[in-house]
Amino acid sequence: MSASAQLPLRCWAEIDLAALERNLKLIRASLPPHIKYVAVVKADAYGHGLHHTAAQLMHAGADLFAVANLAEAAALRELSADWPILLLSPVLPDEDRYLADYGVAATVSSAAEVARFDAVGRAAGRPVAVHLKIDTGMGRLGVWHPQAPALYAQIRAAAGVRLAGVFTHFASADDDPGFTAEQRRLFLATLDALPGLGAAPLLVHADNSAGLETAPGDSVFNAVRVGLLQFGILPHPHSLLARVRTEPVFSFHTRVGLVKKLPAGTGISYGRTHRLASARTVALLTAGYGDGLPRACSNRGHVLLHGRRCPVLGRVCMDQTVVDVTNVPGVVQCGDYAVLVGRQGAGEISVTEFAAWADTIPWETLTSVTKRVPRLYKTPRGL
Ligand SMILES: Cc1ncc(COP(=O)(O)O)c(C=O)c1O
Repeated sequence: MSASAQLPLRCWAEIDLAALERNLKLIRASLPPHIKYVAVVKADAYGHGLHHTAAQLMHAGADLFAVANLAEAAALRELSADWPILLLSPVLPDEDRYLADYGVAATVSSAAEVARFDAVGRAAGRPVAVHLKIDTGMGRLGVWHPQAPALYAQIRAAAGVRLAGVFTHFASADDDPGFTAEQRRLFLATLDALPGLGAAPLLVHADNSAGLETAPGDSVFNAVRVGLLQFGILPHPHSLLARVRTEPVFSFHTRVGLVKKLPAGTGISYGRTHRLASARTVALLTAGYGDGLPRACSNRGHVLLHGRRCPVLGRVCMDQTVVDVTNVPGVVQCGDYAVLVGRQGAGEISVTEFAAWADTIPWETLTSVTKRVPRLYKTPRGL
């Protein structure tokens, strides 16, 4: 244990693993029983911590993990030698051989990739699993849809690769149901043009969290790729997925380092972007953008103290943030606990609201909590 391990925390995140497990089960229960659950755990499981999150999702029965890179796949391999893993990002040429070493399925978008992975599979004496990605309008990874049949034929003919899945990704599932429906239609039409597709056991998948909202009940897809929703966050504030009743897994906490009274007219923090209109009591929090409280929250965000919302005054600094505690009932003191995201008393700040203060999205907020911030794991037995 490091010398600092015993020190009280100044800023930390709590990860509610029991809620994570409940969320997976609720999402599963909302889907037809044959649908496979691909847990998207890239970027350190959306900042929740890959190791603990994936272990809990394994316990909850995730069928497959999706990660962004081989380092994340290698970390999962420390938990399980054979749990299926799909790499969602392109593979660099000097990474190819690790696909076989780690037994990871690659996403393929091009003939060159198929040839490379074929060579790896042949050299290893065991085919490399691949998921054929079809670009139906995302304009990012995947083979452009009219060219998919040719790539599919190449995969089928290559002894060193094994087709394990076919998928697409929606560009605007959270805000353009019309375009999402068009992508679904194109994906289905492309699947129809792949001969013998139904003959092999394949995962066919398209829906991310937002996609689940518009997925038809009779979908022919047999897997979903879920990231945000399993962490208890809706892909947009008015999402119909509220009916699934997932709960937040992440909360973000800090402490009060100093309380003081300042006279009217005082400028607050760097650049003095806020001037006190009247005498106020302010508290200095022991967290800043060095922890993942975005500078864009300056003069916009709020925190919870004694269950009350307190506005951020002036610029968020690297390690400190000033808030107005004048209206907080009771005496705010050095050492008090403040909530940046989560619940305190009757107050609540969601990741979505916190992200909006910084003009960003929950995905970015969660993955921007820095490595200075310890993650405390709350299990069914407590912290
Ligand atoms: C290809 C792919 N599928 C699924 C997901 C999961 O999306 P969400 O977090 O919206 O569920 C992502 C996330 O970025 C992704 O890139």
